[in-house]
Amino acid sequence: MAESKQPSINLSGTNVAIIMDGNGRWAKKNSLNVTSGHERGVDVVRKIVESAAKAHLESLSLYAFSTENWSRPKKEILGIKKLIISAIDSQVPELINQKVRLNFFGDYSSFGDGVIGAIDEAQKATAFQDPKLKLNIALGYGGRADIIEATKLIANDIKLEKLSVEDVSNETIFKYLKAPINELDLLIRTGGDRRISNFLLYHLAYTEIQFSKTLWPDFTEGEFVKCLEVFSKTERRFGKRTL
Ligand code: IPE
Ligand code: IPE
Ligand code: MG
Repeated sequence: MAESKQPSINLSGTNVAIIMDGNGRWAKKNSLNVTSGHERGVDVVRKIVESAAKAHLESLSLYAFSTENWSRPKKEILGIKKLIISAIDSQVPELINQKVRLNFFGDYSSFGDGVIGAIDEAQKATAFQDPKLKLNIALGYGGRADIIEATKLIANDIKLEKLSVEDVSNETIFKYLKAPINELDLLIRTGGDRRISNFLLYHLAYTEIQFSKTLWPDFTEGEFVKCLEVFSKTERRFGKRTL
């Protein structure tokens, strides 16, 4: 009997994020241009989203483009811009079928009206009240920019007396941050580097972190499910004495 791709794991309520790194190195290794690496990366996203839904995850947050990535060559950014639009076009019907709610976060205005319009439409088309999976895409996102912006908004609301200093709590900060998650349970980074690269800085306080040497375009559903299995067997102590 053929091995089923359906993960047997059930991680309902779990919030997972991925730093999808390694597209450039994959392209170089295969004598292709960097845009082909990003294209191959999008194919992998499709499979991992399916797998995340099968594993009953609450949310999957994918780091697609950072604030620092704006310093990349114009040609690469243009390639990514076209790819965002074509990926939305081709993937949204499938996301609707799977009842996946799509949500982009970050400042992606510099990608222009085409990208902004495509994202608006995709978010509207997938705005399920009770989604099977929340798929969050970080685009033009930086953890520091998110914290700076939230700090300004909080300070302003205090000035306007909509909020009191005493009321500022962890929950308040989550509310003001733009990233659409609170506690993050598991972060996976592919591509072999062991760093956070300005992703969900505030949310990472008690996140389990796994690093994979696999370049993102080579990442498989099988490896993803293995990461989930390792996570499910990890004892999370949150500072408590459990012995
Ligand atoms: C990650 O892959 C995708 C983006 C940052 C847009 P990279 O393009 O960073 O791939 P490497 O790290 O150069 O291999
Ligand atoms: C992190 O990868 C950002 C994304 C995957 C979108 P980078 O390739 O930009 O990170 P650094 O430069 O290696 O830290
Ligand atoms: Mg990289």
